[in-house]
Amino acid sequence: MDDMDGLEVLKEIRRMPHGPEVVMISGHADINMAVTATRLGAYDFLEKPFSSDRVLLSVKNALERQELSREVARWRKEDEEKYRIIGESKAIKELLEFVKKIAPTNSSVLITGESGTGKELFARLIHRESRRADGPFVMVNSAAIPRELVESELFGYERGAFTGAYTSGPGKFELADSGTIFLDEIGDMPLTTQSKLLRVLQDGECVRIGGRWPKKLDIRVIVATNKDLVEEIKAGRFREDLYYRLNVIPLHIPPLRERIEDIPLLIDYYMRKVCKESGKRPKEISREALAVLIGYPWRGNVRELKNIVERLVAVVEGERIALSDIPFEITSGVPQENKGYKDLRSARFDFEREYIKRILLANAWNITEAAKVLGLERSSLHRKMNRLGLCKEGDF
Ligand SMILES: Nc1ncnc2c1ncn2[C@@H]1O[C@H](COP(=O)(O)OP(=O)(O)OP(=O)(O)O)[C@@H](O)[C@H]1O
Ligand SMILES: [Mg+2]
Repeated sequence: MDDMDGLEVLKEIRRMPHGPEVVMISGHADINMAVTATRLGAYDFLEKPFSSDRVLLSVKNALERQELSREVARWRKEDEEKYRIIGESKAIKELLEFVKKIAPTNSSVLITGESGTGKELFARLIHRESRRADGPFVMVNSAAIPRELVESELFGYERGAFTGAYTSGPGKFELADSGTIFLDEIGDMPLTTQSKLLRVLQDGECVRIGGRWPKKLDIRVIVATNKDLVEEIKAGRFREDLYYRLNVIPLHIPPLRERIEDIPLLIDYYMRKVCKESGKRPKEISREALAVLIGYPWRGNVRELKNIVERLVAVVEGERIALSDIPFEITSGVPQENKGYKDLRSARFDFEREYIKRILLANAWNITEAAKVLGLERSSLHRKMNRLGLCKEGDF
């Protein structure tokens, strides 16, 4: 080593994206150097003279570690891909920005939104972007567990705590230690469990059912609900103090029908994904079919959209999905809501804007094509778009 010393070589290697593990061997080592090398990421540090057995063992272990960390990286990438959030609407962009800001904190997050809007996806994203990303992400759905089992599921139990408890077991809180716990459908949690949950959150520790000793826990709490918790409080079904404890950072995901620019993107994404999984070529969607899909109110939000795409891929034989392929419940389900306009002028403005926006989306913002569908001159469509504040990027 002429120009660099061993530590500098180590630094360079550790900078490489998929660099190898490093075992340092030095003839004139002292403890300081060994500490520095370890801090810089050396896997092991051997002194000369060394035994070949010692080197072989070190290399073997280093390779094992490399294999493990590659496994974790692969697994994490898969996870990221599986739970990817698609959307370029203003609402989704703002939410993603917001998540970047709040993810590194430890504050509780309350995610609200209709069924199928992506509450779980956002909970996972917050965890991934937090400093706890290496820790566990544990999910509990209060609505899916029988009421009498909710508490043992959450807090764990000791042997003999109740009839049938022949062994002891940790609860989800213990399992989520140093990570994130995601309490889904929190609005369905029984009141007695809510009190216990509040205590766990306040004390930062948890006692198993039938247990004596509390265990200190380091957990980030994310909860989600599609219920209106303020209404639930009024009805006496949700504890107000728990609500304030949980609602430190509110995050609301708007329904799909309020961010229709995401609809074509989601259709495209799921079309590719479903087709890839079933070994088919992605199908095209005719303009009329797409226009109907954009206009549909999607009460089941992204989950419903995903199901429809899956169904279309399974059922439609040809390469192209036509209007006649779209299920009747969708073609017939495009209601005009009465939004309580103050006068005809504002109703017309709103309708015109909404309608033109849909046609533009369905034509991938090709003004010439959209003008044809609308029966307008290109220039007059331009004028209308200006007047209605419609443009492809940004706020519309
Ligand atoms: N923005 C998005 N991009 C891609 N997929 C999405 C998006 N939003 C939701 N999905 C998909 O839709 C389905 C429902 O999402 P998720 O489970 O996160 O919704 P949810 O709000 O938790 O619904 P529920 O209240 O019914 O549990 C999932 O399959 C998810 O992958
Ligand atoms: Mg969910």
